[in-house]
Amino acid sequence: MRLLITAGPTHEPIDAVRFLGNRSSGRLGAALAETAASRGWDVRTLVGPHAILPSPSSDAIEVHRFQSTADLEALLVEHLPWCDMLIMAAAVSDFTPVVPDDAQDTKWRRGSDELSLQLRPTPDLLKGCAERARGDQLLVGFALEPAETMLASARGKLERKGIDFIVANPLETMDADRIEATILQRGGEPIAQTDGTIPKTDFAGWLLDQLDAAAAVRSTDHRTAHE
Ligand code: CTP
Repeated sequence: MRLLITAGPTHEPIDAVRFLGNRSSGRLGAALAETAASRGWDVRTLVGPHAILPSPSSDAIEVHRFQSTADLEALLVEHLPWCDMLIMAAAVSDFTPVVPDDAQDTKWRRGSDELSLQLRPTPDLLKGCAERARGDQLLVGFALEPAETMLASARGKLERKGIDFIVANPLETMDADRIEATILQRGGEPIAQTDGTIPKTDFAGWLLDQLDAAAAVRSTDHRTAHE
């Protein structure tokens, strides 16, 4: 199994020293990479700024760093063809500042006037991957959503992005030690669910078990369809 994992935040540049970012730590991506490598999978990780790196003792894990959504998009174009499965755990910015081309060479100065920052939406990277992916590749996304509307929102994202699986987590577990998850497959049907909440330290193992099993089913289906 060749596994490509994205993790951590994106930093969208505003000027030479400022950026628009988010609080993602990259912890889940690092845990997934270490767990997959310990199972003998080949792992490449695309890791955002200041995010936790997988343990350096594991030679089976290749690490590439990105800063902005545009950097991550370029890395995905380069590395997607290599993988059997993409797990998109990065917290990709939904917007990027509209700034002049040379903005990163200068620093904005404070004046007495108010300043407005214009934002434009970033491309949906998973959707782009789904448009380029081969039929034998599996694409997995995440949906962190309020519990009440979680499944409906996750189904919408799965369909909009055209990916194979989405891992839905309730927003309420974001800063907790335990996590709850439901994996939905293309079409919106749930294929696995944690037994209530489980410790976050067990989550990477649980998720890889489920995705490994789902990949085995998919590859049998794929083979049967081509026989
Ligand atoms: N994602 C992506 N490209 C983006 C934004 C998000 O590929 N520009 C990926 C994330 O890595 C995650 C999944 O899409 O795996 C869901 O991310 P989320 O931010 O919840 O979804 P959005 O597409 O941004 O939808 P919304 O803004 O409606 O929540």
